[in-house]
Amino acid sequence: MLRDLISRNRSCRRFHQEVGIELETLRELVDLARLSASGRNLQPLKYILSCDPERNALIFPHLGWAFHLKDWPGPAEGERPSAYIVILRDTAITRSPSCDHAIAAQSILLGAREKGLGGCMIGSVQREGLRKALGIPPRYDVLLVVALGKPKEKVIVEAVGPSGDTRYWRDSEGVHHVPKRSLDDIIVG
Ligand SMILES: Cc1cc2nc3c(=O)[nH]c(=O)nc-3n(C[C@H](O)[C@H](O)[C@H](O)COP(=O)(O)O)c2cc1C
Repeated sequence: MLRDLISRNRSCRRFHQEVGIELETLRELVDLARLSASGRNLQPLKYILSCDPERNALIFPHLGWAFHLKDWPGPAEGERPSAYIVILRDTAITRSPSCDHAIAAQSILLGAREKGLGGCMIGSVQREGLRKALGIPPRYDVLLVVALGKPKEKVIVEAVGPSGDTRYWRDSEGVHHVPKRSLDDIIVG
């Protein structure tokens, strides 16, 4: 079951924007992050939740979408995320970098997928712009944004071809293809 959930947990970037996500659902997802691993168990992550259209509209302009889809500026109005979870580091707890936020984001996305939702981790964030837009105090570093919604796109995992190109791509039907390296390629010893 875990393999199936992880296999289905593809990054999704187009959504049925009209389908809302409840604040309680976001709280349940953050609770999965809360229970996840944390370096030295410091638990420095804090979260901002957004599921109303006005707040969502403040967040969206500060996000970068799909680096490899050069002709695609990101989801159009109507296909944008219905919710966001902004992951912060509370520098009053630690200033040290860690990978806690990626683990938290994965827990959130797996939980979302289990609920029939989908999403995408966004590391390409205009951090100072987002800080201003949401009034985030200097005490918090913006680490990652998780965009969430009801998926509106089909995503297929495929093997990396002989060229070794790992760039994802979208076909003429709008299906998103994600090349993954083979197991034998990644086990080196
Ligand atoms: C740390 C991290 C940051 C990412 N940042 C972005 C981003 O800024 N914009 C985006 O569209 N996708 C982003 N992604 C999603 C990746 O592009 C995606 O994971 C990759 O294409 C593989 O697809 P998959 O998640 O379906 O396996 C990020 C993923 C990770 C793990």
